[in-house]
Amino acid sequence: MSRNKGLRMSGTVLDHNARLSVAPMMDWTDRHCRYLHRLLSRKALLYTEMVTSPALVRGGALHLLDHDVSEHPVALQLGGSDPAELAQAAKLGAEAGYDEINLNCGCPSDRVQSGTFGAILMQQPDLVARCVEAMRAAVDVEVTVKCRIGVDDQDPEVVLPDFLEKVSAAGCRRFTIHARKAWLQGLSPKENRDIPPLDYDLVRRMRARFPDLHLSVNGGITTMAQTEGFLADGLDGVMIGRAAYHDPSAVLCGADERIFGAKTDALEPEAAVIAMLPYIEAHLSAGGKLAQVTRHMLGLFQGRPGARVWRRMLSEGAHRKGAGPALVEEALAAFRDTVAGDRATA
Ligand SMILES: Cc1cc2nc3c(=O)[nH]c(=O)nc-3n(C[C@H](O)[C@H](O)[C@H](O)COP(=O)(O)O)c2cc1C
Repeated sequence: MSRNKGLRMSGTVLDHNARLSVAPMMDWTDRHCRYLHRLLSRKALLYTEMVTSPALVRGGALHLLDHDVSEHPVALQLGGSDPAELAQAAKLGAEAGYDEINLNCGCPSDRVQSGTFGAILMQQPDLVARCVEAMRAAVDVEVTVKCRIGVDDQDPEVVLPDFLEKVSAAGCRRFTIHARKAWLQGLSPKENRDIPPLDYDLVRRMRARFPDLHLSVNGGITTMAQTEGFLADGLDGVMIGRAAYHDPSAVLCGADERIFGAKTDALEPEAAVIAMLPYIEAHLSAGGKLAQVTRHMLGLFQGRPGARVWRRMLSEGAHRKGAGPALVEEALAAFRDTVAGDRATA
């Protein structure tokens, strides 16, 4: 486990990093994905996949907290609804070196509903407040919440301000609001990310109503220009999920300068591929598989000539026996050849 407490960021610094964050996404934002994203932006706040408090506290699955020191600023997202258990899980996360602990009140999957956590907690703001209180008492890092605007037949105009009021009274200052309802019955988790309509305006109104809170908007945002628009509207942050995963270069490359006003040593996509090679080497030496890392790299050249050959070579070759960094170098060379060929014929 990475114990890197010394590198931990303070709340004010994290507020700034939260101007742009990459959403927690199960099976997607694992440590390899976050390592890659961090090469593309030194500033954006990164979230882990959700880790449940029972898995950590009762299951002892501490390996779920493993991360690399380079990932900072990085937040651990927890799923759960038992205040004492969440407090223990938060403590384990803080001890592992995470800069922030986030509570999931937005995820509608069946498994999550059955354990009474995720979006169903929008119906129980008092319980969420107790969870936040217990987590805050257990750790010295910031505790934040990711939520929806409501669930099922709740009226978001009533439910969201009530939720923010009660949970902030328990000491949570920073919220990320996925600007659509979750329907707990009848929609799959995937449909719940697309079908309920987005209401960005409600989130903007919450910004005006709760001036002391730090509010990030999430849901359906795909470009840096949109991100700049929300920030110009007065929102404190923008969280991007699927677009950051499928097209990480568009969302993260250049963000340090455009969104954070900082000149950093963040890398362009081709340089990021080269920087991944020693990481891949180390992962393979530790017994890992190439595809576990390269699956997150498939979208690096999205929308550019050569993107297809890059994606195809990696997805077809990474599972082959003995595949290693050489495959990644070959795929990069094929990408570059296609780009050069395109230029020559232009
Ligand atoms: C594959 C996948 C897994 C997700 N897992 C989580 C999760 O673990 N915790 C969570 O709060 N949200 C989860 N989400 C929801 C995202 O964090 C985000 O709220 C949602 O995708 C909307 O943002 P987007 O339109 O920018 O993708 C997941 C989304 C996807 C696509």
